[in-house]
Amino acid sequence: MPNRPYLDSSVRWRIDSGNLSLEEPDYASVVEAILSAGLATEVVGLISGGKEANVYLARYNGAPLAIKSYRLYRTSHRGGGPVKQDSMGWRAAHEYEMMRQAWKGGVRVPTPARRVENRFSMQYLGTEDGPAPRLQDVRLDDPGEFLRQVLDGVRRLIGAGVVHGDLSAFNILVHAAQPVFIDFSEAIRVDRAGASPWVRLTEARAALERGLSALQVYFRRYRVQIEIATFAAELVESVDRFGVLH
Ligand SMILES: Nc1ncnc2c1ncn2[C@@H]1O[C@H](COP(=O)(O)OP(=O)(O)O)[C@@H](O)[C@H]1O
Ligand SMILES: [Mg+2]
Repeated sequence: MPNRPYLDSSVRWRIDSGNLSLEEPDYASVVEAILSAGLATEVVGLISGGKEANVYLARYNGAPLAIKSYRLYRTSHRGGGPVKQDSMGWRAAHEYEMMRQAWKGGVRVPTPARRVENRFSMQYLGTEDGPAPRLQDVRLDDPGEFLRQVLDGVRRLIGAGVVHGDLSAFNILVHAAQPVFIDFSEAIRVDRAGASPWVRLTEARAALERGLSALQVYFRRYRVQIEIATFAAELVESVDRFGVLH
């Protein structure tokens, strides 16, 4: 992850001086925090409560937005206190950056809007009647064509320097009959060396194969096959500029 601070100094001071609450904030406090951070002007309600993050439907001067808010203290992982606050801020920063990179590369993702500490806002996918369904919950009319669009998205993502990292029918929404990728919390950057290229690309290939296998589980019901190994190898080689995998 990039080595730059995300917490503003007032928050750091509250952590350092022990003034920051060590409890999971309740709904009202989260709403208050979202409003005072200027991420939204109204919070409509909870869309999803996950292990590590909640997603809220909000509005900014009437226009709908989705806000993903990483939990600070009550997660499935060990830990608590200031360290947790810090790491959840990093998670939000990482996801937001990966999403921006994907979006800039022309991949269908919710347009990212703004991040403040452990929360970020993005385009709301859905209608007045509710959020767009997850692929997992949809019965497709033309699964072959939909899969083609998904794989095209995966290819574009890699072109933009991002391997999703947690690809599955749970992290693809069906919006206007097309796939939209969400949940970049586990995404891996493949456009420049962070770790050594070999480690990074090996990880990226493993993540890609895992994701394609998870998608295969969904597409099996239509008897549609994904050529996982071939597709993953082809894509990873396309970013292996130095030939480190050979
Ligand atoms: N931009 C969005 N618009 C509408 N619904 C969304 C949006 N982002 C996430 N959601 C909803 O929230 C759920 C959880 O989001 P996700 O990013 O996958 O978080 P988690 O880390 O909890 O899996 C999704 O399955 C989807 O139903
Ligand atoms: Mg998810």
